[in-house]
Amino acid sequence: DPILPPDLTQCSPAFAVSVAGPPVNLTFNCCLPLPKKKVKNFTFKKGRKRVKKVRRAAHHVDAAYIEKYNKAYELMKALPADDPRSFAQQADVHCAFCNGAYKQVGAENVTLQIHFSWLFLPWHRWYLYFHERILASLLGDPEFALVYWNWDNQIDGNMMPAFFAKNNTPVYDEKRNPAVQPPAIVRLAVLSTYNTTAEIINDNLNQMYQSVVTASTPELFTGGAYRVGTDLANSTVLNSPLGGSFEDGVHNAIHFWTGSPTFPLLQDMGVFSTASRDPIFYAHHGNVDRLWEVWKHDMPGGQRYDHTDPDFLEAEFVFYDENANLVKVKAKDALDNERLDITYTKVYADQLWINYSP
Ligand code: C2O
Repeated sequence: DPILPPDLTQCSPAFAVSVAGPPVNLTFNCCLPLPKKKVKNFTFKKGRKRVKKVRRAAHHVDAAYIEKYNKAYELMKALPADDPRSFAQQADVHCAFCNGAYKQVGAENVTLQIHFSWLFLPWHRWYLYFHERILASLLGDPEFALVYWNWDNQIDGNMMPAFFAKNNTPVYDEKRNPAVQPPAIVRLAVLSTYNTTAEIINDNLNQMYQSVVTASTPELFTGGAYRVGTDLANSTVLNSPLGGSFEDGVHNAIHFWTGSPTFPLLQDMGVFSTASRDPIFYAHHGNVDRLWEVWKHDMPGGQRYDHTDPDFLEAEFVFYDENANLVKVKAKDALDNERLDITYTKVYADQLWINYSP
């Protein structure tokens, strides 16, 4: 059966276990606030007001956009901590659905985990969708769109975008690896051992090729089946049998690259419980989301397809929207960004890894 939204009244402390550093066990209280009103069902209403959001590459936006971006996060961070639209609560959403805070409905002993399986891409698409709408509504600008951190672009996108690296701004996070300020080049291998720029860039192209181009089926790319009763409690970022190549590969690599090795769990970006406390998380996932589309539409062998299993399509999640209403969404409604009024600017550098020859 498909995964359903958990009972929010039944929430336990979430745990976080170090994968890379010394043994450490921490718990986090990241339970979501209970809804004040009835849960709404997301629908694509006919005649709904449609405002197109164009997500741009972070390294190409102009000063006015950067100012607006910072303003949006400043406003979000200024909301009271118990407001589900506040930055702290937005970050807790990620913690709550990754680290055992909730049990699956229908399998009361199994915790809910939205990583390591076919739920990864649709859940994160919805997460960004609502996060972006909250930012837009705080700004009073319905066209406001997130940026994407174009780390796969080995011509000019493969560094931390400069505006995220600027100290004392609302999109800065001090819990990052001090060694990854621009102009350090990103490493798209989880355990990268290369040293020269040329080697790192070549390896990055190869990682993209392996994670995206060669992963031709939804099992390989998106991940395997996760249904009621599937227990991933023993999966880790370094060993996730159902995880797709894209999640396990280049996506995880950016998390590890960005998080600070001076904290036991590579906080913030290096561990689920704190990753989205870093505003760059949402730009990272903008690119993850963009690349899901590139995988579907731009691969050499032609169109690729998502899972069609009803347990995938009918999986349901809940998120708070820009009016602090709890909204129930389905995985199947996340499969087409066009319907969600989201587009990405075109990146010609995609061709470099699409046409890579190992
Ligand atoms: Cu929920 Cu990039 O992880």
